[in-house]
Amino acid sequence: MTHPVSNTPASIFPDRFRLDGRTALVTGSARGLGWEIARALAEAGARPVLHGRAAERLAPRVGELKAAGFPAAAVTFDMADRAAMQEAVDGLGPIDVLVHAVGERDRRPFDQISPEDFAALVDVDLVAAHALVKRVLPGMLERGWGRIILVTSIVGELATPGAASYAAAKAGLAALARSLAAEVASRGVTANALSPGFFATETNLALIDSPAGRRLAERCPTKRWADPPEIAGAALFLASPAASFVNGHTLVVDGGVSATYIA
Ligand SMILES: NC(=O)c1ccc[n+]([C@@H]2O[C@H](COP(=O)([O-])OP(=O)(O)OC[C@H]3O[C@@H](n4cnc5c(N)ncnc54)[C@H](OP(=O)(O)O)[C@@H]3O)[C@@H](O)[C@H]2O)c1
Repeated sequence: MTHPVSNTPASIFPDRFRLDGRTALVTGSARGLGWEIARALAEAGARPVLHGRAAERLAPRVGELKAAGFPAAAVTFDMADRAAMQEAVDGLGPIDVLVHAVGERDRRPFDQISPEDFAALVDVDLVAAHALVKRVLPGMLERGWGRIILVTSIVGELATPGAASYAAAKAGLAALARSLAAEVASRGVTANALSPGFFATETNLALIDSPAGRRLAERCPTKRWADPPEIAGAALFLASPAASFVNGHTLVVDGGVSATYIA
């Protein structure tokens, strides 16, 4: 007997990466990895809803997508402001894909981070993600299709100095994706984590050219930092129909850093 998968004509396979008719909310997409992901989802046919704290930083991005023929929109709220989040997200209509890419970092050493600082960062990076998923998940379950992609970090698994609150929040975010995966997949919604390594986003520009930045490049088997667009393929895959059986996974995009001891 031939396995049914082998009967799938190769020519239709690219369609399995299309997101036509889907709306994708990408948080933290005014710049950096969120922006690259939003642009890729738009190119795959989704209607992207960009997000950040400032309308003036989002407007040029929306303009860029619209100029390319993509029907983009934008929404503003601070992840720390749950009332603003609720009002903004509930006003968006159905969201089929949530890519949560906001992630703030406190690089101070452990002894300088007060319990209040720790709680505030975990609130923005982890607790707020739970609140956001609560807003979009019921609609996905009702419609029987959804994708939740939580952007974590290899720092959630690999320790570095100056990352205590960030690493704890990111590890929690990956656990949240797995927990969701266990609960919702039978109803058409998958939940996964997307874990970047060292990306040359604006936030890291000063670090890249420093001795520490050069050491990080050397530590990576690719011997370089990733270009921000290099996150897009993995995000699109997780969002796409092609990833229908990929659930509760952490997809690492780090050039091999976390797979190697000496590179
Ligand atoms: N870059 C890397 O090498 C790397 C590595 C591992 C993991 N990551 C993770 O990947 C994600 C993106 O990183 P990135 O370097 O691209 O980030 P980024 O350049 O710092 O971009 C952050 C985005 O999030 C928005 N934002 C920040 N704080 C916010 C808040 N409290 N409420 C609402 N929006 C907020 C910013 O918009 P406004 O400032 O305009 O509000 C911006 O659009 C993060 O979760 C990060 O932890 C990045």
